[in-house]
Amino acid sequence: MHLFTILLLLLLLRSAEPRRGPRSGSGALGPDARGRVRGRGRAGVVRRQIQECKEYMEAGEKYLDCQDRQLTTVMQDWPKDINHLLLARNKIQVLRDNMFSQFTQLKSLDLQQNDISMVEDGAFSGLSQLTTLLLQHNRLKTATEEVLLPMPRLTYLRIYDNPWSCHCLLDSLIRTIQVPSNRNLGNYAKCAEPPSLRGQKLKKVSVESLCAADNQVDRRPEEGPGRQPRPPPFKVKPDATSMCHTYMFPKPLLDCSSKELKNIPADLPSDIVKMDLSSNGIQHLRAKQFLLAKDLKLLNLSSNSLSRIDTAAFAGLLYLRELDLSNNSLHYFQYGVLEDLYFLRKLSLGDNPWICDYNIHYLIYWLKHHPGVFYTGLICSEPQEFRGWPVEEYVKTYNGECPKDKQTGQMDMGQGVQGGSDNEAQEVVGDTGVDTGGRLPRPLKEKKPNRFEIIRLS
Ligand SMILES: *[C@@H]1O[C@H](CO)[C@@H](O)[C@H](O)[C@H]1NC(C)=O
Ligand SMILES: *[C@@H]1O[C@H](CO)[C@@H](O)[C@H](O)[C@H]1NC(C)=O
Repeated sequence: MHLFTILLLLLLLRSAEPRRGPRSGSGALGPDARGRVRGRGRAGVVRRQIQECKEYMEAGEKYLDCQDRQLTTVMQDWPKDINHLLLARNKIQVLRDNMFSQFTQLKSLDLQQNDISMVEDGAFSGLSQLTTLLLQHNRLKTATEEVLLPMPRLTYLRIYDNPWSCHCLLDSLIRTIQVPSNRNLGNYAKCAEPPSLRGQKLKKVSVESLCAADNQVDRRPEEGPGRQPRPPPFKVKPDATSMCHTYMFPKPLLDCSSKELKNIPADLPSDIVKMDLSSNGIQHLRAKQFLLAKDLKLLNLSSNSLSRIDTAAFAGLLYLRELDLSNNSLHYFQYGVLEDLYFLRKLSLGDNPWICDYNIHYLIYWLKHHPGVFYTGLICSEPQEFRGWPVEEYVKTYNGECPKDKQTGQMDMGQGVQGGSDNEAQEVVGDTGVDTGGRLPRPLKEKKPNRFEIIRLS
């Protein structure tokens, strides 16, 4: 007891130590370089600590990570030769003229999730190498084409989830992002006002009408004599890009965790590598909802209420390596559901009420044929007699019960015993209409249709 306490104290002391001393081992740069990254110190110790940024190299490029630091502006003593500046989730409100002009090597600038409501026309001057500019989730209402002029190489501009005011002032910016060759500038951004345009994409808004409407003395939307008839706006369906946060670095990530989602959001961006949909209320994965997310390597669906996964739900996820389905309400996998996952390496299945009856055999069969997949948490919760058993063990006893002389293969026995707790199964099968009695792995079943008859008769 005493010894244990002493050990614990020692451990605690040791883990507290590095915090008191100088920070160790963060990044490739020495203490001097790190010092430079700190704030100017005028405002005292607390401020300085908050402003300390992380500098690192990756693939030969220099990153300065200043995310989540309550910053309201950039610091003059930051290194000037950085290629990527990460300023997400700070408190920046205004982008002033020449604010970034000392960072002449900058290729990407992430300013998402600040409070930016104004961009001066020269804010980005000097950024001739910039290709990626992220301004989503801010408070921008208007901006002009001028702000983009200093960035001839800009190919990727994100400005969605800003309350764009689609009036005449915005006309030049809208025209620029509507140029066909600028296909990655301003995608998903929508007008917040006027009411007649609310919800319309900046990419699609009819530019002719913007200034025409503004010139009218009385701008009540429904009445202007020169107005073209427009389809009614609204139906602002929540989509992935407005509900969730996307990050470009270090890997493109879509973070939709804890957003009270009931369904997979529409308009999933196609270039995402990690998608976090955990802690929502999703119950049902329908076919082909991830079809466009072709680069996805990690999909996290843990802590939802998933009870149904349709065949082809994972279609298109050719390169998925990790799938987290833990803490859901899954009873089994329907035949064929896993067949789209060619490169899966890790499958988390814990905290689901797996039912150990014949329906679970497909999952075991698939895992057997994909020995490279590392899986966890496959434990029977029902029926009572198998509760707590690893599902593989249950399947072994199941096969063991069969009379040896009639056993022709591992999986093609026991059709006669099937049909215990099948309400669930019928529900799912009936819903999709895809699975017609696919309780056996299909190829085996088709090969020996007659065996079943014989066994049943005996
Ligand atoms: C999925 O999300 C949960 C909750 O945020 C987290 O605990 C878990 O580690 C994530 N899984 C993976 C594979 O990243
Ligand atoms: C499992 O999911 C429920 C909601 O479905 C949540 O309340 C709970 O915290 C989750 N448990 C874990 C261990 O994440």
